[in-house]
Amino acid sequence: TRDTEDAKDAKDAALDAFRAPDPDGPLTTDQGVRVDDTDNSLTVGDRGPTLLEDFHVREKLTHFDHERIPERVVHARGAGAYGYFEPYASLAEFTCADFLQEAGTRTPVFVRFSTVQGPRGSADTVRDVRGFATKFYTRHGNYDLVGNNMPVFFIQDAAKFPDFVHAVKPEPPNEIPTGASAHDTFWDFCSLQPESTHMLMWVMSDRAIPRSLRMMQGFGVHTFRLVDRDGRGTFVKFHWRPLLGVCSQVWDEAQLTAGRDPDFHRRDLWDAIAAGDFPEYELGVQLVPEQDEFAFPFDLLDPTKLIPEELVPVHPVGRMVLDRNPQNFFAETEQVAFHTANVVPGIDFTNDPLLQGRNFSYLDTQLIRLGGPNFAQLPVNRPLADVRTNHRDGYGQQVVHPGTSYAPNSVGGGCPATMGGGRLAEGVFEHHQERVDGAAVRRRSPSFADHYSQAALFWRSMAGWEQQHITEAFAFELGKVGDREVRRRMVGNLAHVDPGLAADVALRIGEPEPGAPPEDRAVASGAGDAAGVAFSPAL
Ligand code: HEM
Repeated sequence: TRDTEDAKDAKDAALDAFRAPDPDGPLTTDQGVRVDDTDNSLTVGDRGPTLLEDFHVREKLTHFDHERIPERVVHARGAGAYGYFEPYASLAEFTCADFLQEAGTRTPVFVRFSTVQGPRGSADTVRDVRGFATKFYTRHGNYDLVGNNMPVFFIQDAAKFPDFVHAVKPEPPNEIPTGASAHDTFWDFCSLQPESTHMLMWVMSDRAIPRSLRMMQGFGVHTFRLVDRDGRGTFVKFHWRPLLGVCSQVWDEAQLTAGRDPDFHRRDLWDAIAAGDFPEYELGVQLVPEQDEFAFPFDLLDPTKLIPEELVPVHPVGRMVLDRNPQNFFAETEQVAFHTANVVPGIDFTNDPLLQGRNFSYLDTQLIRLGGPNFAQLPVNRPLADVRTNHRDGYGQQVVHPGTSYAPNSVGGGCPATMGGGRLAEGVFEHHQERVDGAAVRRRSPSFADHYSQAALFWRSMAGWEQQHITEAFAFELGKVGDREVRRRMVGNLAHVDPGLAADVALRIGEPEPGAPPEDRAVASGAGDAAGVAFSPAL
């Protein structure tokens, strides 16, 4: 193979330049001046006032005063690890992404797992979605696959995200709850926004309480696009599958774990890696040729829908091994900045309106969370690929740029945009040339209208005991909602999924059984004609 075993350590080696020197050496100030007393301020006499000229203590207090940065607006609590990814076979037939060209090419990665709702200090084993974000340090730049452990999402359009998160987060008057979903505003929003129903089924299932981060799936959620060297696109859904299998805690276990060890998941991940018991995940893809875009009974651009595996199988294409713990939580796990728009040649977007909004939001939020425009220079975020930009200055600039910084440029310095009109094949990113035509409209696509078929499909695919856990979870959560209108509206939505489920939940929370819902399924849940693409790489 082109790369060697050493490639997996390339990021590790690159970090060496940033590691603090031997901590056993003598204490210094930020300016490197040795200090012999860090216990006593400089005062006038034994009992007099402290002197402003005590630069060491002033620097010490000032730095401490500025130690905190804002936590992430969502996914604040997380745990990270380094590792590597390697494909099983070449994917050149579908993508020119450099890191997917040859079996065995090792690309260093950093992964951050997270909960969504709670603050940084909340417990691990709450009922919640889990983030599963991977940064691939490829030779053609960083590629971020910023996914979750569930294959669909609550909303279809990024315009709803602030509303959704305001409803999910603790209630404004008292900041309750701080780490779980059981409260009125969340259920109020969901009951009024039936597109959330499919995701709610997943969140009320055992998938929302993983046994371990090592036993959790990951999904890109949106339909993305692979692009080959001739510019031909293929729709793709990404899946991570843990080699240990998917395993959950039951509700009572999760309560105990959260009480006894709120750090249960991050400890488990850390300890396993420290013991050499490296977590491993298999990357799988569902591929759909562009001409089959409309062959499904749902819209491929709708992030509240998955592609049933009966219609398009998941092909395993590679594996990821997490084999190294970070050295410093803040420097690495807290300062890492993932972004859906961090793509590399060979991987592109679709017009999924949730993805399009995400492509704006991550950079925007990181500008404030990480203090200005130079956070890509932080050690964990630095690409292994060469970085040559005409960006200059700004808070926290760490690069000493010689020469000028503009193009076109005849006096020297300044980076030209392309060297010799490069194309995809030469590692240049070229946006997929999709033809789009239409008037500017502000309305949800009618093809996004069916909110219940896949929720019902999910329910029917569950074993009896799984259905029981889902029913109990709905009853527990809705039973805590004070506003009876919200409870009834939510039970009414469940009747569209399964009348038996709705009746059972209603009975358990003392609400009347909802009447039969009107026949409102816009699209039947049956199989379409599409069968995905034939997958040829020899696996
Ligand atoms: C984190 C926005 C939907 C997965 C974040 C952050 C923001 C955000 C602002 C904090 C990032 C930071 O401070 O570095 C949004 C918006 C969404 C959306 C606007 C919809 C319009 C989703 C979806 C997924 C997802 C659908 C999963 C497919 C994640 C993950 C993180 C995250 C995994 C944590 C990344 C990390 O570990 O640092 N999101 N998000 N988000 N989001 Fe989203």
